[in-house]
Amino acid sequence: MAKVLVAYASLTGNTEEIAELIAEGIRQAGGEAVLKSVTDCNADEINNYEAVLLGAYTWGDGELPDEFLDFYEEMDELDLAGFKAAAFGSGDTGYSIYCGAVDLIVEKLKERGAEIVQESLKIEYGPNAAEKDSCRNFGRQFLETCAAVS
Ligand SMILES: Cc1cc2nc3c(=O)[nH]c(=O)nc-3n(C[C@H](O)[C@H](O)[C@H](O)COP(=O)(O)O)c2cc1C
Repeated sequence: MAKVLVAYASLTGNTEEIAELIAEGIRQAGGEAVLKSVTDCNADEINNYEAVLLGAYTWGDGELPDEFLDFYEEMDELDLAGFKAAAFGSGDTGYSIYCGAVDLIVEKLKERGAEIVQESLKIEYGPNAAEKDSCRNFGRQFLETCAAVS
């Protein structure tokens, strides 16, 4: 059974809700999901898992939120070769760089050698009913991809 870390940064709860739904999807598919705020864990904890999903809302002008900065910097010490990964987050299409933090996370995961196994999940604000299903499917799909390739 694949054990997946789902780590996220959320200020007003939208990304947290997305992360919870993704974790639900992973569990529905028979995987183990450990849900953590990035403020409660260090990046090297990724080594305790088989795969990782990282999420954040976007701040400033397409930037990472402050809560994610330490974790992002700690990732520089990691060798993620062989790790399956993907990213998710909440944003607002009214800003010129929609969900830019999600793209920055994918960049960092790739730089450290992780394999991005599915396209990022970007949700505007909190998920509506249809998007809640998309979040669960994102988790389920991720688990199934990890199980298929491991
Ligand atoms: C000051 C400020 C700057 C923001 N900048 C961006 C941005 O550049 N791109 C984007 O997609 N969303 C941007 N947002 C929108 C947030 O990412 C969005 O409200 C998100 O749903 C918050 O997620 P959370 O509830 O997980 O904290 C910004 C919001 C604020 C208040």
